[in-house]
Amino acid sequence: MEKFVINGGLPLKGEIWVSGAKNSAVAILPAALLLDVPCIIENVPDISDVKICLKVLQGLGAEIRPVGKNGDTYWISCKNINSHYVPYEEAKKMRASYYFLGALLGRCHNACAAMPGGCPLGARPIDQHLKAFEILGAKPIITGRNSDVVELHANQLRGDVISMDVVSVGATMNAILASVKADGVTIIENAAKEPHIVDLANFLNYMGAHIKGAGTDTIKIQGVKKLCGNAGEGSTVDYCYSIVPDQIEAGTFMIAAAVTHGNVFIKGVIPKHLEAITAKLRDAGVSVTEIEDEDAVHVFVKENAEFKPTNIKTEPYPGFPTDMQPQMAVFLTLVNGQSTITENVWEDRFRYVNELAKMGAKIDITQNGAIVQGSAVLKGADVQACDLRAGAAMIIAGLAADGQTSISDIRHIERGYADIAGKLRGIGADIAKISTN
Ligand code: EPZ
Repeated sequence: MEKFVINGGLPLKGEIWVSGAKNSAVAILPAALLLDVPCIIENVPDISDVKICLKVLQGLGAEIRPVGKNGDTYWISCKNINSHYVPYEEAKKMRASYYFLGALLGRCHNACAAMPGGCPLGARPIDQHLKAFEILGAKPIITGRNSDVVELHANQLRGDVISMDVVSVGATMNAILASVKADGVTIIENAAKEPHIVDLANFLNYMGAHIKGAGTDTIKIQGVKKLCGNAGEGSTVDYCYSIVPDQIEAGTFMIAAAVTHGNVFIKGVIPKHLEAITAKLRDAGVSVTEIEDEDAVHVFVKENAEFKPTNIKTEPYPGFPTDMQPQMAVFLTLVNGQSTITENVWEDRFRYVNELAKMGAKIDITQNGAIVQGSAVLKGADVQACDLRAGAAMIIAGLAADGQTSISDIRHIERGYADIAGKLRGIGADIAKISTN
């Protein structure tokens, strides 16, 4: 077992680089199953969810080779895929295993994977995914000893109108994956608009798909027979695609800089993707400067600056991201006055509140949100990373706190943040990963 130990109270200063987006990578890697030629994917984050994706791909018959020295680039060939079964144990380890359903269905017209695992955030239904698959012509069967395995079979996939009942990132991505090689035209209405949806569409279009409207609420997909890039099948061109920067990792660093009264350039970002986070931090009195031509944002807080309260409501993109809610809650414990949080996406995203309370935070849970009493003086404590973003919040709290914070269950954090301790040490944090065995 490993944990993070943080000695807090140091202002963060310098430059920190953001990795590729987790939620893009976990969709784009399975999307390689749809390609008729090899491809090279760059800016792949070194996180455990990605390692699981690569392992699953290899298990299905993909050939994968690391490229270059950065450890973030892979050459992938899915020429010899010989299975449509995602191993049960792997599927259960991450939420994004559901993308193998859409990608395998699109490729083989058959797919089988256990219902996904991932962070415990309350009910995590996949009814909209199954609805999309059915509309395209697949028959889903729920099977397995625990009725937790989805099998899909389609004689033919045919484009149609898929009107989502809720805005769902995963269901939108899966509808794209399953329809990109279907016959005819698919229209996804009430689609999610997150940057990772656009990234998946850009990747597939680069490889020869016809997807229009990604990033809006209506996506139109003209099915194609092959995805083999512009040079065509049999070419020796290396198709190379780079995953977009992770806006949640960037936002996490922005808040870490703010709570430590730091002076940090967060680099390798797309400032537009951070607008909702930037706006809230500015509301509260944090100086955030977008540096478009350097792909950076600069977060600066004077030593004795005081923060103002602000209210946040989580919403699908371009609203304030639910994946930044726990980190923002830590910031709000330090402002002068009371703030409110309304959580509109996940019903159980407040498991971090008890942990933060051990450090001196005062947060009262309400029906679909929380009231954060500001002006807390955070003190180091032994806390747990209850899920990925809760874990990120604990790191931020530890950086802001007086004394030592020890965070257990860091496997949750490592699912989504590449070398977070090393990166934060690079800007002056006193954080170490230690083995508890
Ligand atoms: C993605 O989850 C992300 N995961 C989550 O990131 C993120 O919190 C979430 O989108 C919202 O932005 C990945 O991309 C792998 P949804 P996803 O389908 O796709 C309801 C993180 O910390 N819903 O957009 O599973 C659902 O209950 C993680 O990085 C249905 O009702 O989320 C929720 O209330 C955690 N039926 C809402 O929609 C469905 O079939 C949004 O969920 C699907 C979803």
